Amino acid sequence: MLKNSIQYDVLIIGSGAAGLSLALRLAGRLSVAVLSKSSLGEGSTLYAQGGIAAVLDKKDSVEKHIEDTLEAGAGLCDEKTVRYVVERGPNTIKWLLGHRVPFTLLDKEDASKGYHLTREGGHSERRVIHSEDATGKAIETTLQQQVRNHPGIQIYEHHLAIDLITEAKLGLSGNRCLGAYVLDKQAQRVSVFAAGNVILATGGASKAYLYTSNPDTSTGDGIAMAWRAGCRVANMEFNQFHPTCLYHPSAKSFLLSEAIRGEGGILRLADGTRFMPKFDSRADLAPRDVVARAIDHEMKRLGVDCVYLDISHKSEDFIIGHFPNIYARCLEYGYDMARSPIPVVPAAHYTCGGVMTDLAARTDLPGLYVIGESAYTGLHGANRMASNSLLECLVFAEAAASDILQQEARPGIATQLPAWDESKVEDSDERVVVSHNWDELRHFMWDYVGIVRTTKRLQRAKRRVDMLAMEINEYYGNFRISNDLIELRNLVEVADLIIRSALERKESRGLHYTLDYPERNIKTTQATVLTPGISKSGGLHVASGT
Ligand code: FAD
Ligand code: SIN
Repeated sequence: MLKNSIQYDVLIIGSGAAGLSLALRLAGRLSVAVLSKSSLGEGSTLYAQGGIAAVLDKKDSVEKHIEDTLEAGAGLCDEKTVRYVVERGPNTIKWLLGHRVPFTLLDKEDASKGYHLTREGGHSERRVIHSEDATGKAIETTLQQQVRNHPGIQIYEHHLAIDLITEAKLGLSGNRCLGAYVLDKQAQRVSVFAAGNVILATGGASKAYLYTSNPDTSTGDGIAMAWRAGCRVANMEFNQFHPTCLYHPSAKSFLLSEAIRGEGGILRLADGTRFMPKFDSRADLAPRDVVARAIDHEMKRLGVDCVYLDISHKSEDFIIGHFPNIYARCLEYGYDMARSPIPVVPAAHYTCGGVMTDLAARTDLPGLYVIGESAYTGLHGANRMASNSLLECLVFAEAAASDILQQEARPGIATQLPAWDESKVEDSDERVVVSHNWDELRHFMWDYVGIVRTTKRLQRAKRRVDMLAMEINEYYGNFRISNDLIELRNLVEVADLIIRSALERKESRGLHYTLDYPERNIKTTQATVLTPGISKSGGLHVASGT
């Protein structure tokens, strides 16, 4: 037993669909800890609306799901990964049903008719299984309850992982991941967690943008931690903007599901004109990159603040039956979906790039796995198709579990891990630096690294991010850490990766659109891969680790 550290066979950082499903697959066979920087249920998973894509209808086929995913991914998906995920779709849904996730039936009175499947952009068939219009809540709360009741899983809520501990950072040979430094946010104390296997399941980084559909947890922590520890990242330029978030000053990040368009919703201008058919033959059900760009184009062309999503031609019963939660939330803001169109704008929604992993969710570091939105598996290419994300979370959680369970010898940690050392830092007297820099970062990312980019805007953003990185690192080295500081440090790191990747891609493809290279380069079929220079001290608190 190591002194000074809390030890498990498996340390899972993050408690969304990816982290919780992994914990349930390993519990009882290995000792498992799950960390969550907020309450256990909080994260993007909780807010997922539309559903999970899988081949569940006789008319549908694995080949069609693969084809649609490749088409949405604009030539950059890894076909092996796409097949791997799509083939596992039906069994993944079976696993969720086995865990009693309450998916919506086709006929409430007759379960033998099976489940209702909806459609979303890019899907040529109805294949999105859902729980009304709050699928994420159904999954997250169901799994959460089972994790809470499992004696083999130790839960650490309000515990924020700061950085990974690796052999290289400790000056040892090799670069195995050995654990993590973790801030207990309530006690304001940093502990050392040691584990034979560490899994990052920390979600995406859409909080890098001013307007986002994501909750506050999406600050790219896992991507930044893995990068600092020496992992490659890929395709960070592909940030997905969801076309339809409610436009209302107090509706912070409220999404209007793509399933609304799947069930007949139409995008209109203020005067009622329909505009999507002039941009794409699939009109309102074109993939998200196309729809978000079309909205952005119309808003800029007309100088307006929003466009409108209209499903008022359907009956009130239909709308309330399919979208009870969205309907109720819109009413709270004074909009009746059954009577009038709803104002909408695009917002940052999903991080397609991330830490490079293989089909077993392994990274460049032995002992470190990444699953869920933090990972780059090759599934999404240049643009994620709707409802493929939850599927990816669950499929790669299973892949990681089976890889971990197959390990012949359980990796132990022989080395004493150094305690967090705060002896050389002091309390900050200038917290305003952190809050100011948070705002600045999210503003310039929105203005310069958004839906439509140019090289000049990206270079402008790069200069600003370099300056922020310098300030934040200096601040991090001198002052006692706080939640906001750690998240900002990660967001700055991830913003830098996004900008650098965007500057490297000299073409427009999928979610990356630049006026300087407006065409797709047919010769380019590669992901944008960034490789870190591993620094021994990188990631350890400047004044710690001795
Ligand atoms: P998350 O669910 O985001 O969980 C991340 C976890 O990591 C949280 O528990 C968080 O507290 C924790 N964490 C983060 N950093 C740290 C740290 N440093 N230390 C400790 N813990 C940390 N996808 C679909 O497929 N279908 C949909 O219908 C759909 N709808 C969506 C609707 C909305 C509004 C949003 C925002 C997303 C939607 N998505 C949808 C995308 C999908 O929900 C996410 O990609 C997916 O849920 C990500 O799951 P995850 O487990 O990777 O991360
Ligand atoms: C939605 O319901 O529109 C979100 C679906 C997704 O992001 O996959």
